[in-house]
Amino acid sequence: MAEKSEFRRYLVNMDSISTHQLFTDCLVIGAGIAGLHAAIEAAKHRNVIIICKDTLENSNTWKAQGGIASVLDKADTFESHIADTLNTGCGICDEGIVDSVVRQGPELIEQLLRWGAEFDLIDGHIATTLEGGHSHPRVAHAHGDETGRIIAEALIKEVKQNSNIKIFENFYTIDLLTNDDNECVGIIGHDIQNPRKADQIIWAANTILATGGAGRLYRETTNPEVATGDGIAMAYRAGAVLQDLEFVQFHPTTLYVAGATRALITETLRGEGAVLLDNKGQRFMTDYHEAAELAPRDIVSRAILTQMRKTESTHVYLDVRHFDKAHFAKRFPFISELCESFDIDVSRDLIPVRPSAHYMIGGLKTDSSAKTSIENLYACGEIASTGLHGANRLGSNSLLEGLVFGKIAGQFVSQHEKTAVSLLKHPLIKYQIPHSDRTRLDTADVRNSLRALMWRNVGITRRAQPLTETQEIIRFWQRYVMDKIFDSPQSWECQNMLTVCLLMAQSAQMRQESRGVHFRSDFPDTDDENFKKHIEITR
Ligand code: SIN
Repeated sequence: MAEKSEFRRYLVNMDSISTHQLFTDCLVIGAGIAGLHAAIEAAKHRNVIIICKDTLENSNTWKAQGGIASVLDKADTFESHIADTLNTGCGICDEGIVDSVVRQGPELIEQLLRWGAEFDLIDGHIATTLEGGHSHPRVAHAHGDETGRIIAEALIKEVKQNSNIKIFENFYTIDLLTNDDNECVGIIGHDIQNPRKADQIIWAANTILATGGAGRLYRETTNPEVATGDGIAMAYRAGAVLQDLEFVQFHPTTLYVAGATRALITETLRGEGAVLLDNKGQRFMTDYHEAAELAPRDIVSRAILTQMRKTESTHVYLDVRHFDKAHFAKRFPFISELCESFDIDVSRDLIPVRPSAHYMIGGLKTDSSAKTSIENLYACGEIASTGLHGANRLGSNSLLEGLVFGKIAGQFVSQHEKTAVSLLKHPLIKYQIPHSDRTRLDTADVRNSLRALMWRNVGITRRAQPLTETQEIIRFWQRYVMDKIFDSPQSWECQNMLTVCLLMAQSAQMRQESRGVHFRSDFPDTDDENFKKHIEITR
């Protein structure tokens, strides 16, 4: 029977004999904190290729502001960080993973310092600040609000000077390749800047997926253009088990200036005293939660939406006018410049903000060694669902998770017996997609409409009927997009986005309760009896 186009195994035609080929012990896909750290570890005993679809500098890690959470203060304890992570995760964190990640934090942050990451210090010790849900200041930051850039720069420097690591930038991964035993054997990709040898196969004894998040599935997001969920879609096509795709974290405060792209306004501002005001100048978070501005992110995001509706406004405001202006510029240099570029004088003006999609909690199901359900395929960072976050992520726990699981994945691969030699007998892969003469839709239009649909129907508040309709609409688009063979990253991204959005809407439909970041207005209560568990999806 012919394969249905929405269940197609590969996005492109393939004949492995006639395609340009490379071999490696370890292939790392993605260059955020997890991918870079995995590459450094794997390269201790293996040769490594690291690929990313833009430059090494274009990642969610690079854009991270607030910081990285860890127990760095004498008055803080591992037990307290573990308890805060479990509380925020609403009953479905993996306690063993939480314990192990939290305890590895201080040592790995020391390692970053040795690699040259200049964290902000007070009296010679790493300075820490607060974010919502933390019962102790434990968010370490660097160059004020440029923590991600400083960490990424230190890791990139290590990667660039390692002779066991080759870096391919502007290299788009189209699909994971699997053999007849469903073992991952590498990828087919597209070298964007090399039109003569654009399509290439990289045979890899071990593949580490670290492609990051999927915020670009939503119209409003803090994420860069590259965050389109490609890794989740290609892993799904390859048959990997995915879990918890209904859990998307919305960040409460994204700069809202009509016509401008959205930009994160770090939660550490609220940690250090910024308050939220509505368009009448009233502080409102005290009406919603005892922790006010420092309540968990899902609560603050929903409160902002409710307040926007009550006051018939498109946004609310962050008030930082009481901060010392010079201190503000030094502590939050990125936000200072950003606000200045929009003529917002933070000592006089309020900062217009509203929530937007920020972090994908679900992803590829992995175990404590970063292994996925597919042999030789590992995942770490935002694409992985390790069980650390449960149903809601504690702020700044994600850089920590990427650092820890990047190391675990890289270490595992560096000691794994399989090397590129095992690929000398690689499989022949031939795959032919039947021609379709159905109407060709403009994939740029589909992407825009899809992102708007997700924002409206699979956003901060969900309900059965819009979730059903979302799936109907996506399936309709899929009929006209998934049957085509494209030759550009933008169109492959559109196919991936349709795939991941459908899975997210299905997962959100299945979870008939509210838990953490997943809020169903038709099932507002948490239902432990039926849903204190993960929702898994596989092809
Ligand atoms: C922020 O700085 O508010 C974001 C930190 C995070 O999402 O972990």
